[in-house]
Amino acid sequence: MAAVIDLAEVSIVRGGATLLDKITWTVDESERWVIIGPNGAGKTTLLQVISAQIHPTSGVAGLLGEVLGTVDVFELRPRIGLTSAALAERIPRSERVHDVVVSAGYAVIGRWRESYDDLDHQRADELLDQLGILSFSDRTFGTLSEGEKKRVQIARALMTDPELLLLDEPAAGLDLAGRESLVRTLSDITRDPYAPATVLVTHHVEEIPAGITHALLLRRGAVVAAGPLADTLTAENLSETFELPLQLTEDRGRFAARAG
Ligand SMILES: Nc1ncnc2c1ncn2[C@@H]1O[C@H](COP(=O)(O)OP(=O)(O)OP(=O)(O)O)[C@@H](O)[C@H]1O
Ligand SMILES: [Mg+2]
Repeated sequence: MAAVIDLAEVSIVRGGATLLDKITWTVDESERWVIIGPNGAGKTTLLQVISAQIHPTSGVAGLLGEVLGTVDVFELRPRIGLTSAALAERIPRSERVHDVVVSAGYAVIGRWRESYDDLDHQRADELLDQLGILSFSDRTFGTLSEGEKKRVQIARALMTDPELLLLDEPAAGLDLAGRESLVRTLSDITRDPYAPATVLVTHHVEEIPAGITHALLLRRGAVVAAGPLADTLTAENLSETFELPLQLTEDRGRFAARAG
């Protein structure tokens, strides 16, 4: 198995604050990880490192067989599919849904004069279909509901056939039906042996798709626990992560937590 992420004591320091504190973490290509932690724990910062958006202040970040700082990030980034609130904000409201997805192949947001070949258009349609939103192809992005927008972003992230898929709070802002529907779609992706290595960030154990294999619990920039899901996602570790006594239940691969 090849490591797609290989972090050794990676720290991020900004203005005297330690956002990430000596994170050592390995993700193999067959693994699907969830990162759980409270607001401000450093989850998005960690995703910025593993999407080659920022470099470690100290430590070594191995990514897709390369080492950050010794490689052209513009060659690395197209190999990584990312969805985040920050990226979603940059998608023009007037952009056609099909174009939001097809333009990912060129790492541009806002379609502008590039030409795409038939295979690109076909791939975009296949992904829109897989995400259940093919009928929205001709709509403009700004007219979609939050749930529909999330699905467009995931289709876009998969468009380049990435070796690593990173999803920052994909279910944030969705209603119960929307969340359940998206979790089911994400379960299909994470269970697919041909899907890329995946890292999904969430605050809520209810949003963990059934195909997730590993968990990393993050608190105040440091790893509380990391490893196979069954060993790592325990009431004890979760309580330590959220600094609150929590009860955890599991039913057929889905989790629920409450104070207890
Ligand atoms: N440039 C910066 N300078 C100082 N602090 C920063 C900077 N950027 C982020 N932070 C702080 O780093 C911490 C971690 O932020 P991050 O966005 O990674 O958290 P998160 O776990 O994604 O939180 P959330 O669940 O709310 O999205 C926060 O306390 C944030 O305020
Ligand atoms: Mg965040």
